[in-house]
Amino acid sequence: MPVNLLGRNVLTLDDLSPPEIRYLLRLAADLKAAKQAGTEVPRLVRKNIALIFEKDSTRTRSGFEVAAYDQGAHVSYIGPSGSHIGHKESMKDTARVLGRMYDAIEYRGFGQHQVEQLATYAGVPVYNGLTNEDHPTQILADFMTMREFTHKHLSDVTVTFVGEGRDNVAKSLAIGAAKVGMDIRIASPKALWPDEQFCAHVRELAERNGGQFRLDVDVEKCVEGTDFVYTDVWLSMGEDESGWAERIALLTPYRVTRALMQATGNSYTKFMHCLPAFHDDSTEVGARVARDYGIDCMEVTDEVFESEASIVFDQAENRMHTIKAILVATLGN
Ligand code: CP
Ligand code: NVA
Repeated sequence: MPVNLLGRNVLTLDDLSPPEIRYLLRLAADLKAAKQAGTEVPRLVRKNIALIFEKDSTRTRSGFEVAAYDQGAHVSYIGPSGSHIGHKESMKDTARVLGRMYDAIEYRGFGQHQVEQLATYAGVPVYNGLTNEDHPTQILADFMTMREFTHKHLSDVTVTFVGEGRDNVAKSLAIGAAKVGMDIRIASPKALWPDEQFCAHVRELAERNGGQFRLDVDVEKCVEGTDFVYTDVWLSMGEDESGWAERIALLTPYRVTRALMQATGNSYTKFMHCLPAFHDDSTEVGARVARDYGIDCMEVTDEVFESEASIVFDQAENRMHTIKAILVATLGN
């Protein structure tokens, strides 16, 4: 059956079938090639897109803005302050207002239920630009990047997420990977595992699509033979900073180091991170944590981050191409 995503929401990768995911990846690759060749055809002329960001963003915001401009659309950035959202106007009412003016809405915020409510009442496509539970547009960029850095089909790829197993990026990666038939492993301390209902869902997706899912505390065993080692920050946006001490204690054994990369036994293994990353103490937060806890990095050493194996900036670039594919597929003329 031909894929048609016109008018669709992207709230989670559960919204997309495996052929739809593959379609978006092909479209993103075509759009990337067209941009590079100077032959891109604008298919979003006269479209207006609202970009709601209740949390900060560099990649997702830039990705949506540049993708929209390249395709001839206009965007409005609605930041954490300056609108009535949340404090004076409900998401349901906001959805019905923005849906009258815009052709689509991106939302980055807190609970998944907020983006779901927006989608229920807006009457136009809604895209999840990150919630506490999910980050679907990130994973499409990651799959595009994996394709660029391995000769394997996605269904033959092994990816190991190392760190907080219930992190939004880890969970979205698990859903997406299971859907495209990958071998997805999560190495995480038990205290930070995703709940059983989520794991059962991923297991079921993996079974249906020829993938495998493993959750383990043993990080060295998990990374054996893996094609990609993926990690994320130890404390996500919106989480209380008082959580650092516990996370640092729990997750230090899960830091991506040169030794862990070598434990893969695979000299082609690439390092992935959605970014931003605490790989040194050059940021405000990095410096504070360095001072308070006596460490100069968190989830990844600077050595691995800056190594040849690191493909994090390719992932960052591909955020834009994959977001563009979503916009063109759901809204394009
Ligand atoms: N990876 C990612 O979503 O980055 P931003 O927070 O900069 O959007
Ligand atoms: N888990 C991180 C991802 C940032 C892109 C967060 O939610 O802050």
